[in-house]
Amino acid sequence: MMTAPKAIYPDLANKTVAITGGASGIGAAIVSAFHEQGAKVIFFDIDVASGHELAKELGKNAYFYELDLTDLNQLTKVFSVASQEVGPINILVNNGANDMRHDLMAVTPDYWRQSLAVNLDHQFFAAKAVIPYMCEQQTGAIVNMSSIAWRLGLENAPAYVASKAAIEGLTHSLARELGPEGIRVNCILPGFVETPKQLEKWITPDIQEQILNSQCLKRFNKPPDIANIVLMLASDVSQAMTNQTIVADAGWI
Ligand SMILES: NC(=O)c1ccc[n+]([C@@H]2O[C@H](COP(=O)([O-])OP(=O)(O)OC[C@H]3O[C@@H](n4cnc5c(N)ncnc54)[C@H](O)[C@@H]3O)[C@@H](O)[C@H]2O)c1
Repeated sequence: MMTAPKAIYPDLANKTVAITGGASGIGAAIVSAFHEQGAKVIFFDIDVASGHELAKELGKNAYFYELDLTDLNQLTKVFSVASQEVGPINILVNNGANDMRHDLMAVTPDYWRQSLAVNLDHQFFAAKAVIPYMCEQQTGAIVNMSSIAWRLGLENAPAYVASKAAIEGLTHSLARELGPEGIRVNCILPGFVETPKQLEKWITPDIQEQILNSQCLKRFNKPPDIANIVLMLASDVSQAMTNQTIVADAGWI
């Protein structure tokens, strides 16, 4: 089975969804998947060219906002502008990241801080920005993107790995605190997902072979495979679920 079947979640139509890092990779698949469900999709990214291109391709109900997620004051402002222009946010997908690799001994305090800023900090502040809208409606869903990298102990990426571990902790903290408000918070840990960036930057044919040998399933997950799980966690079909972690790695760990 190469192309995943598409489910329709009628409750997602007309919902307002915010997605960080939505201009490319898995984020772009998530943007397209919500758009296909009839949702109003706000997405944020530093990659302005790709963001505008995707918004143009999708047309009505797709709203791109330029944002550097490491600028937390700007994040709060842009989220507020977007919700005024498009509508109060019902669903947040914390997807943006940069899985830069770093030689352990070359990591400086500035580099460490920058890595946590791009991979972790904004997930909390994006949640903080949307919680008031969700509390007002006494419902909402937040999906945080972590990674199996921290369960595997991926080498040459200690700051990325530490951020991804913290995201699971953040998920548990927010889920407990926001549950009484009807807000569900869950987390996805993808394994290797075949994106153009992964193939271009990190994944050689040798590594691909090692990954396939490690996975139960002998195919590479693609961005729409992860987007499908995000849709399910955002929809009320999963209203019984919060405070959970879903591993989507074709059976790697
Ligand atoms: N692809 C994989 O194999 C894989 C595996 C495990 C987890 N993940 C996680 O899934 C999510 C998406 O992964 P991906 O592979 O599509 O990532 P990616 O690096 O290809 O894309 C991330 C997006 O975030 C944007 N971005 C980067 N820095 C930004 C900044 N400062 N401000 C705003 N936007 C910024 C990029 O422009 C890009 O559109 C990430 O959280 C990643 O950690 C991916």
